[in-house]
Amino acid sequence: MTRYIKVSSFKPEKDKITVAAEIIKKGGIVAFPTETVYGLGANALNTQAVKKIFEAKGRPQDNPLIVHISHSDDLKNYVENIPEMAKKLMDNFWPGPMTLIFRKKPVIPDVITAGMPTVGIRMPSNAIARELITLSGVPIAAPSANISGKPSPTSAQHVKVDMDGKIDAIIDGGMCEIGLESTVIDASKDVPVILRPGGVTPEDVKKVCGSVRIDPAIMKKPAVDLRPIAPGMKYKHYAPDADLYIVSGDMTNVVKKIRSLAAKDISAGKKVGIMATAQSYPQYSKSCKIISLGNRENKMMIAENLFNALREFDTTGVDIIYAESVNQQGIGLAIMNRLIKAAGFKVINA
Ligand code: TXA
Ligand code: MG
Repeated sequence: MTRYIKVSSFKPEKDKITVAAEIIKKGGIVAFPTETVYGLGANALNTQAVKKIFEAKGRPQDNPLIVHISHSDDLKNYVENIPEMAKKLMDNFWPGPMTLIFRKKPVIPDVITAGMPTVGIRMPSNAIARELITLSGVPIAAPSANISGKPSPTSAQHVKVDMDGKIDAIIDGGMCEIGLESTVIDASKDVPVILRPGGVTPEDVKKVCGSVRIDPAIMKKPAVDLRPIAPGMKYKHYAPDADLYIVSGDMTNVVKKIRSLAAKDISAGKKVGIMATAQSYPQYSKSCKIISLGNRENKMMIAENLFNALREFDTTGVDIIYAESVNQQGIGLAIMNRLIKAAGFKVINA
């Protein structure tokens, strides 16, 4: 049985979070909100507990987990050294949506890192997440709390759909503010490398470090010669049930293209979904299931709504979905990274 614990995101009730912390201490697994997406947490130092996460998610064993801490002082207990570049990034973006890769100390079990010598560590800003980590008294390993391959959960309801009956508890702390997973950065070299784009953008990193590199595997189909450095990036991810296509190009052309593709599909008897924006919404045929992600100019809003929209299409029984692309500035890179993976790299140029 899965317990539901409703906690106020404004004034988190300590007694309620204590209940969840006790479950973590005893080796159980608990879903909890963070500012990015909901995580599925276990005591990171307890191999048996961490194995339960992989089981509940159906996650491949070779995909390492992020370890969450609530105080940056704790970092030195888990990692061999803290490069200068990492310190700079921590000073600027912790607590927040950024995961840094470090050489791990032996105390971090191999099950967390998939046998790799490095570990990803993040200090979230969400007050419930931080209180949970503090009250548990241990670092918390937590991947996104979805079934492997599905869009990450941005609400407790999403977690419930995927995890009900499989995990010990779900803390409901409302909607996640950012809605996309953290930026994963390797800061061990001269130039910081973004392995997964997220809420901390390449522009943000460049401002602090003077330079930034982006792992080319972020936007490309994994190939023999192009292996992502973050192992999780090679898996099919974020996919809705229906076939998803990204339509990319100039906005006027994109809308025109989607309209004509949709018309053809509808006459062939297919149910069509369209992932639109406030600007384009009125221009599509109402015989399609249209979901607007919000104002095209407000990419924070688009990021926040993306996973919810992908999940909503699953409940409508559409056969095919067309999604408008957004530009890759700022958080646009993370949005397009998730979309391109959700689409299995299928892009139509308008
Ligand atoms: O925002 C987030 O990061 C959320 C919340 C819950 O904190 N967590 C999350 O975890 O997205 P997960 O497991 O869904 O994604 C972790 C990503 C994967 O792509 C994984 O391969 C990469 O981080 N990763 C973890 N440890 C790594 C390491 N040592 N080296 C390279 N990549 C690593
Ligand atoms: Mg995930």
